[in-house]
Formats: sequence, C-alpha cells, structure tokens
Amino acid sequence: MLKEIEKSIRICNKCRLCKTAINPVPGEGNPDAEIVFIGEAPGETEDQTGRPFVGRAGRLLETLLAKIGYKREDVWIGNIIKHRPPQNRDPLPDEILACQPYLTEQLKILSPKIIVTLGRFALSYFYSDGKISRDRGNLLRTGRFNVFPVYHPAAALRSPQMYRDLESDILKIPGVLDSIKKGKINTSNLNLKKGKEDLDQELDGQQRLF
Ligand code: URA
Repeated sequence: MLKEIEKSIRICNKCRLCKTAINPVPGEGNPDAEIVFIGEAPGETEDQTGRPFVGRAGRLLETLLAKIGYKREDVWIGNIIKHRPPQNRDPLPDEILACQPYLTEQLKILSPKIIVTLGRFALSYFYSDGKISRDRGNLLRTGRFNVFPVYHPAAALRSPQMYRDLESDILKIPGVLDSIKKGKINTSNLNLKKGKEDLDQELDGQQRLF
C-alpha cells in the first residue's frame, strides 16, 4: 500500500515543484516502524538521489539514531513535501496543501507509535501554533498521533547549542516510546491548536486511531 502511494507521488504534478525537482522523495524505511521521522522537504542530495535525509543532516540523524540503538532501516523517514523547492526555499501554502494527502495516507498505513518531527516546519504541520524552542523534547498528542518535536538536524549543524538539545531530545525517545506502550503518557499540548494533519482527519470524519 505504501508502494501505491509512492507510485502516485512519482507521477504527481499537482503543484509547480515537480517542474523544477529532479526526483520525488516519497520517504523510505521500515513499513512496520514504531518511530517515524518527518522533515520539511528534500534538499539537494535528496533531490539527486530520491531518498530522504541522505545529505549532511541525514548523516547527523543516523549518528544520533545509532546512539539509541537504531539504524535508519529500523524507522521510517519522510517529509511533508515530496519534491524539492528551488534553492531550498520554504514550501508555499498551496504546495503544502497539494502534498498533504500523501503524508496523511502514509501515516494512516504506518500508524506509528510516535512521530518525531524534525524542525519548526514539521511541528507546525501537526500543531499550527507549536513553537519549536518551547515544545522540543516534549510529547504532544493530536487526536491520532503522539508527536515528539525536536530541532532539525540541519539547524543543529549550524548551532552547537541546538546540537546538544537535539542530541538530548533524541536520547529521550526510547523512554518516551516505552511510556507510550505502557499507556503512561505525559503530554503537554493542552492548549495547542491542531495543525493541518488533524484538521484534515476531522474533515474526513474518520475514526481516531488512539
Ligand atoms: N531536510 C529535510 O527536511 N528533509 C530531507 O529529506 C533532507 C533535509
């Protein structure tokens, strides 16, 4: 089923980004993953290879994953936007809207225990008024998902402080995952507005998974 979505992404021309990108980057990894990482959009190396997080930021992500005993093949890694925006500019609202059904479907199939959002952009996809400097390292919960925001690895490569924060947040993941499995969840999103993902689901009128 993930393969079907991938096929649709490969022929997608719903927005302008398919005209400038070299390859789509649908996402990859373990279809039974408990942990899913979601970034913003493919960068240059991802665009060249069609694979998510394979540049410098991706290498940092792999290094940090190794510290909690995971390889990239153990988790699933994807992005909100599947084609690279030119010069890595921020995706535009209509591009996000066009791409949204793909991630919605992917997450429905993957049904992860925890979604780790990488950077402010991915956080605000799930929580429109989320604030990365405040919410990082805290478990948030939408109607359907457990969301754990952390800094983007690319930002951590530019700032030693963010690097330390990203590392300490990633080190928390096994404990957070464990408490989710035991049903002992401590969330801190009581007043956060839902983002696109959950609103979409409500409009769908679908049943909540959790
Ligand atoms: N940054 C992202 O947000 N996603 C990638 O796939 C690579 C870099």
